[in-house]
Amino acid sequence: MKVSIVGSGYVGTTVGACLADLGNDVWNIDIDEAVVAALNEGESPVHEPGLDELVAEHAGARFRASTSYDVLPGTDVTVLAIQTPSEPDGGIDLSAVKAGVRSIGEALASKDEYHLVVVKSTVVPGTTDEQLTPILEATSGKTVGEDLGVAVNPEFQREGSAVADFMHPDKVVTGTGDDERASALLRELYDPVLDSDGKHIETGRREAEIIKYANNSFLAAKVSLINDIGNICKQLGVDAYEVADALGADDRIGERFLRSGVAGGELSHR
Ligand SMILES: NC(=O)c1ccc[n+]([C@@H]2O[C@H](COP(=O)([O-])OP(=O)(O)OC[C@H]3O[C@@H](n4cnc5c(N)ncnc54)[C@H](O)[C@@H]3O)[C@@H](O)[C@H]2O)c1
Repeated sequence: MKVSIVGSGYVGTTVGACLADLGNDVWNIDIDEAVVAALNEGESPVHEPGLDELVAEHAGARFRASTSYDVLPGTDVTVLAIQTPSEPDGGIDLSAVKAGVRSIGEALASKDEYHLVVVKSTVVPGTTDEQLTPILEATSGKTVGEDLGVAVNPEFQREGSAVADFMHPDKVVTGTGDDERASALLRELYDPVLDSDGKHIETGRREAEIIKYANNSFLAAKVSLINDIGNICKQLGVDAYEVADALGADDRIGERFLRSGVAGGELSHR
């Protein structure tokens, strides 16, 4: 499949390089010329185990980069992976994402065939339908559900194991609503990484958006709780690691994220 990725930071570079490794023809777009130059020289702008090797192997062939959105119409699917930083009031700053969506719409205005735009950036539930789709329709002159598809596909990669998380996901969540063409394209794209352990959850766009927030909240609650338990253990002179290991042996609780919490580790809220 021909795929364009808009935004080539942590998520965009990992997803682009992994999709190229799976045999797709990938273009990564970024407004940062240094990022684009590095990618075209086979150097990853971000570092993750296994990522440098994938970028070096596929750069200039199945994995190319550009600052221009002109390559978009020649691809089947565009994945949006621009940053959505948190604001002090708990909201998110959508300015960069909105600028990217505007550029995507303008680039697709001249395309006749169906094109799918996939929102991978983490956005508050309702953002895609209420804020991003209207920009896309206005700038492309197209109607979503007709010649243009919009899907939400949150990313669950962790820093430190991003490539492995993409290649062997616990789950892939795709929110397409009732757009069958969008569903078919995403099934084809993710089929190679969905082995017997990985679940494909096909749902609506809003559901996909809230699944990402619910997932992050659940993990944050787990870390926060084990931190509190660790503090109580310290006060009582009890070995917190032994307590965490015993808790983790219960498969309703699970061992992951318990040790990092006891050690005071932090969890990414992205
Ligand atoms: N980093 C993670 O571990 C992680 C995990 C899950 C989800 N997410 C989410 O994925 C999204 C991307 O996160 P990230 O960490 O990759 O961000 P990042 O800051 O590492 O990368 C964003 C990239 O987008 C580029 N960009 C900005 N505006 C652009 C535009 N108009 N056109 C083209 N490129 C543009 C920037 O130059 C930058 O290279 C965010 O919504 C984040 O919350 C991140």
